Amino acid sequence: MLTSIKTNHLTSSGQKLGMMYFRVAMVLFGAQLLMGLIAAIQFLYPGFLFELFDFSVARMVHINALVVWMLYAMIGSVYYMLSEETEHAGVAMGLGKLAFWVLTLAVTVVVLVYIFIQIGPGKESTIWLINEGREYLEAPRWADIGIVVVVLTFYWNVFATYMAGKKTGIMTVMVANLMALAGLYLAGMFFTDNISMDQYWWWWVIHLWVEATWEVFVGTLAAYALIKIIGARREVVEMWLWIEVLMLFGSGILGLGHHYFWIGTPEYWWEIGALFSALEPVPLIAMFVHVLYDWGKEQGGSGARETVKNNPAMAWLVTNAFGNFLGAGIWGFFHTLPQVNIYTHGTQFTAAHGHLAFFGAYATILVGMMYVGLQGAYGVKEMKSTFNSKMAIFLITFGVVGMTVALTIAGYEQVLVERAELGGGWNAFFTAQDLPWYIQAQLWRTIMGVVTLVGFVYLVIDLLTIGKKAQQAEA
Ligand code: HEM
Ligand code: HEM
Ligand SMILES: [Fe+2]
Repeated sequence: MLTSIKTNHLTSSGQKLGMMYFRVAMVLFGAQLLMGLIAAIQFLYPGFLFELFDFSVARMVHINALVVWMLYAMIGSVYYMLSEETEHAGVAMGLGKLAFWVLTLAVTVVVLVYIFIQIGPGKESTIWLINEGREYLEAPRWADIGIVVVVLTFYWNVFATYMAGKKTGIMTVMVANLMALAGLYLAGMFFTDNISMDQYWWWWVIHLWVEATWEVFVGTLAAYALIKIIGARREVVEMWLWIEVLMLFGSGILGLGHHYFWIGTPEYWWEIGALFSALEPVPLIAMFVHVLYDWGKEQGGSGARETVKNNPAMAWLVTNAFGNFLGAGIWGFFHTLPQVNIYTHGTQFTAAHGHLAFFGAYATILVGMMYVGLQGAYGVKEMKSTFNSKMAIFLITFGVVGMTVALTIAGYEQVLVERAELGGGWNAFFTAQDLPWYIQAQLWRTIMGVVTLVGFVYLVIDLLTIGKKAQQAEA
């Protein structure tokens, strides 16, 4: 289906490889949404697909597919921008292509094993062969090791090309940040029997990915995309990028403490976690201002639309600026102080934040990069939004925001009833989930999930057809 995208206008093998990564990312994105819907229906009808496709598996595949499609789209984006930024054709690209196929085969095997082996005792052998049991990073150890090899190949492509080519500020940040991002993965590879220790290291990957290295990654993509889409000046964009890096790492690294409140780590984490994580929204505000300021500036304040060379990509980039600030910044800030988190911890409030943050901060900009890629692939000077592009961005954003609101209501009810009124025991947990406020919220989340899925279908159709339409318009 997705192979019908013509990439014949691309001259560099890196860009072609980038488009291959984008295609697999979209397939996994679709799988993610289907799994989310199954899990959402199971909240309403707990017997749905029981013992055929259990909630634990649907949820696991949902969030693993999420992480993996985003990594695919990130790798795709890097391959896409690599040759343009470095003005170099790319070192050892054949190896990179081989790594793509190895990774894709491994991902397929891992998912099939998840789906077919759903229950059974956890043993040393299951850690190696089936599932390592770490939320978001459940891949069995053989796949962990395989991923490291593939990522090393990818990193070699990027690093060696960077060393051989031109060294822009954007690529310098990219190369350094990717090393941190890949290195952190190692912290999630070693299961320990002590749950406190295990969680301690596991958060190094989860938190230091999404609240430090992935955010810097978004900064570099936004910088590159702003130059490409609206012709923003490189000096301005790169200056902002360095400021963002400083602020993101300055707050995000010790912000890690907001996951160390209740897992058996020393109490000084309350203060460290509270202070630094409360500062995390600041760089997100800066990133927001940056995108909108540049946008206004390049339009010369006239609002002229001609200067935007790729409307759908720009629309997703602006959605990213809002979504990152709201989902990560605001919804994250809500529950980041220990005095609040003691009530909200692990409620649907967390899930509300998780959805809006992952969507707002990452899904948006990665979809934007796919449109940038398509523009190159079809060799068109200008890419205008189609009806499908508009339906896609509207329905997906509306759906995810709707899910977030519904889950926030469910979480609020849990905080009041389960935690504050009933004291947070096992019975309280179930009592709160049987009340109409909770059930209605779960129903609305499911409905909004369907809206998201419909938007996704529009997105796929658009990605498959927009290039040809733009070519025809140009001709
Ligand atoms: C794009 C960036 C972010 C993403 C993708 C993200 C995503 C997530 C996810 C998925 C969880 C749930 C983890 C789990 O399963 O246990 C979580 C937890 C949390 N996040 Fe974020 N987050 C981001 C940024 C932030 C920021 C900036 C803050 C604070 C200002 C924040 C505060 C928190 C807190 C306090 C928790 C723990 C919730 C609990 O106690 O249950 N997050 N985040
Ligand atoms: C069809 C739309 C979707 C539906 C119906 C859906 C449903 C669900 C369900 C039922 C869960 C399990 C929640 C729990 O254990 O309490 C979940 C978890 C999660 N989903 Fe979705 N989801 C959808 C789309 C998305 C999207 C677009 C993203 C991000 C881009 C996303 C990110 C997440 C994350 C990060 C978690 C883990 C949250 C946590 O542990 O706090 N989902 N989703
Ligand atoms: Fe965090």
